[in-house]
Parts: sequence; structure tokens; C-alpha cells
Amino acid sequence: MLDQDLLPLTNRRARIRPLRHADAEVYAAGTEDPLVRQFAHLPEDRYTSASVRAVIDQVAAPALDRGDLAVLAIADPRTDAFAGSAVVFDVDETRGSAEVGFWVHPAHRGQGLSAAALELSAEFAARSGLTTLTARTVPANTASRIVLGRAGFTEGEACATTAPSGQQVQTVPWSRRLEQTSHLPLVTDRLVLRLHGVDDASALHRIYSRPDVARFLLDEPWTLAGAEEQVASRRRRTGLEGQSGALSAVIEHEDRLIGDVALWWTGRDHRLAEIGWVVDPGQGGRGLATEAVRAMLDLAFERYGAHRVAAQMDARNTASARLAERVGMHREAQLRQDWWSKGEWTDTVIFAMLASDR
Ligand SMILES: CC(C)(COP(=O)(O)OP(=O)(O)OC[C@H]1O[C@@H](n2cnc3c(N)ncnc32)[C@H](O)[C@@H]1OP(=O)(O)O)[C@@H](O)C(=O)NCCC(=O)NCCS
Repeated sequence: MLDQDLLPLTNRRARIRPLRHADAEVYAAGTEDPLVRQFAHLPEDRYTSASVRAVIDQVAAPALDRGDLAVLAIADPRTDAFAGSAVVFDVDETRGSAEVGFWVHPAHRGQGLSAAALELSAEFAARSGLTTLTARTVPANTASRIVLGRAGFTEGEACATTAPSGQQVQTVPWSRRLEQTSHLPLVTDRLVLRLHGVDDASALHRIYSRPDVARFLLDEPWTLAGAEEQVASRRRRTGLEGQSGALSAVIEHEDRLIGDVALWWTGRDHRLAEIGWVVDPGQGGRGLATEAVRAMLDLAFERYGAHRVAAQMDARNTASARLAERVGMHREAQLRQDWWSKGEWTDTVIFAMLASDR
């Protein structure tokens, strides 16, 4: 299922995002371009601003909610202006595949926008859990063949197929295997750090509902419903390279969930990150939390190229401060009474590690 919460996705040259009413006029004008008419095989023969708005309301928006079709705008990343269209369709959960179609408004061609938008479409599909993205083009469409090749698609044998317009056309199939972008699971001597699954809510609730755990956290003790909401949003934090800019892992020891550790950009452009952890107090004293935090710090510096990773905690949380010191973080500051927590002022301690500390 396509996950609309991943949108918008942006890279250096392009953005993909849901279509908006404000795009309708330029969209309709773009579909009048002879190359779009010849090669894009759109479902309708002619578009007007009004018909595009109707497609947005009646087709695109509900389909994005269902997750079985994404009719997206390709936008200029600097201005967010509509520059073309990318459509991810024919989502097949069993095969883990979907197809992408695209066109770029003539005013925005020649800038590598379509290859950049295909990259983002591949990221969107991959992070929605798909493993293959396909495309079709006609042999005469040189520009699209160049672009698909640039975006990492592999060309197959030409054959006769039905286009989205319903026409029978000779097409060349293309496909790209989607690498899963997450670096998880991470396996250490005694632990597995893996992405959150929907079934993790009750195990996390068991830990986060404990008053001794909640005491030093910003949260109140969790309810089960609260745990389910947390898991739903954590499931989108699958890697620092993605839109969320965050990676949220659960820690398993001997097949039992014993806590979590998360890493997120606080300043992506300058590679500044923060790390946070919670481990079941019942599992303390065996260095399991240390092992998990070390693994996440290795990932932060070695795979994500972090410059600095900070950790902030309630100053009374001495067990956590010892852990930060044990993994080699420097105690940098104590902010006095900067947080009103559960009826009292509390201090915050800040630890950090630089890439050059390692
Ligand atoms: C295909 C399309 C999306 C490419 O858009 P784009 O963002 O301008 O593409 P790019 O600028 O990234 O690259 C296109 C490349 O093809 C080349 N090209 C374009 N037309 C060409 C032609 N007729 N013959 C040979 N090469 C051509 C360009 O010179 C460019 O190569 P370069 O970067 O080496 O100069 C756009 O032309 C379009 O919307 N076409 C109509 C709809 C369509 O065909 N969609 C694809 C359906 S599968």
C-alpha cells in the first residue's frame, strides 16, 4: 500500500507531492503538449482546469487515502511550482510491484527533472514496502528511455500492451528493483535492533506505562491506545535519508522486546543528530542498553556521516547519564530548571559525541 504520509519527498532537483487545485491550470496546459499527447497515454483525451480539479477531488485524493494509486505533482523543489506529473499505479501487494508513468511540462524540460522525480517515485514505492517499480514506454520515445535508464531502470523486450488510455501499443517494459533503504535490522552480540512492527505496541506499553520509566521522560505513563499511536508514527521513521529524517528501532534480546533507541537529524544540512533511548529497568545491569546505543552511534557516524550526535536527559536520570559516558559521549552542559515536568522544575543534561571524538 502506498503510504501518503511519506509525501512530499524532495531531492536536489525535484519534489513529488499530492496534486493541488492550484496546479490544475498548468496541468491542463501541459497535457496539450504534442509529446504528452503522443507518449503519456493519459486516461482522458483532453483536460481542462475544471476536469483536473475533478480528478484531484474524485480520483487522486481518495486513491491516496486508500493507498492503491498516487497521482502526484512533480514540483520544482525551490518554488514548489507544478512542473509535471508522476503517477504510481497498478499497485500489486502480492508481487510487491507498481508501475510509474510521468510527464514534464515543456517549460520545465531539459533540467533532469524527470529522472529526479523517478528517483523519488522509487523511494516512495520502496518506503511503502514495494520491491519493484516498473514503467512502459514506446520504442520511439527516446527522451523517456534516456531518463528511465538514468533513474536506474533496466530495459526489457518490446511487446504489445494496453496503455492507460486503453489503446493497444507496442511498448518496451522497464523495471527497477527497489533497495530497502533502512539499515535495520542491526545485529550485535546479544541484540537485534529492528524497525517497529504493528504488534510492538503492547510490549512498549509494558515498559512506558511504568511510573519509574515515565518519571524522567517528557511523556506521562503511556496508555495502550497511546502506545498504538506511537508505534504508528514510529513505523514511518525508517531512516535518516528519508523525509522523516529519523530512524526508530526496537531493541530485542532473546526474542523479547526490551526497549528502543532512536536517531534523528536536528540539522540535516550540517549532519547534526540526536539520539534517544529507553530500556526496560528490569533488564538493567547487563550492558544491554550500552550495546544498543553503541550500535546506533556506529550507524550514525559510519553510515549516515553524522558530524555530531547529542543526547539530552533529565539530570536526575543518573543511570542514563552513566550510559552516555560509558559509550564515550561528553557531558557538555547542564541547563538549570529548563523543563517543567510532572509538577516540578527539572534540569536537563546534554551529552554529545563528535565524529572527531571517535
Ligand atoms: C520524457 C520527458 C518526461 C523527459 O523530460 P525531461 O525532464 O525534460 O528530461 P531530461 O531533461 O531529464 O532528459 C531528457 C534527455 O533526453 C534527450 N532527448 C529529448 N528528446 C530527445 C529526442 N527526441 N531524441 C533524442 N534525445 C532526446 C535530452 O536531450 C536529454 O538528454 P541530455 O540530458 O543528455 O541532453 C518529457 O520529454 C515528456 O514529458 N515527454 C512527454 C511524456 C512522456 O513521454 N512521458 C514518458 C512516458 S514513458
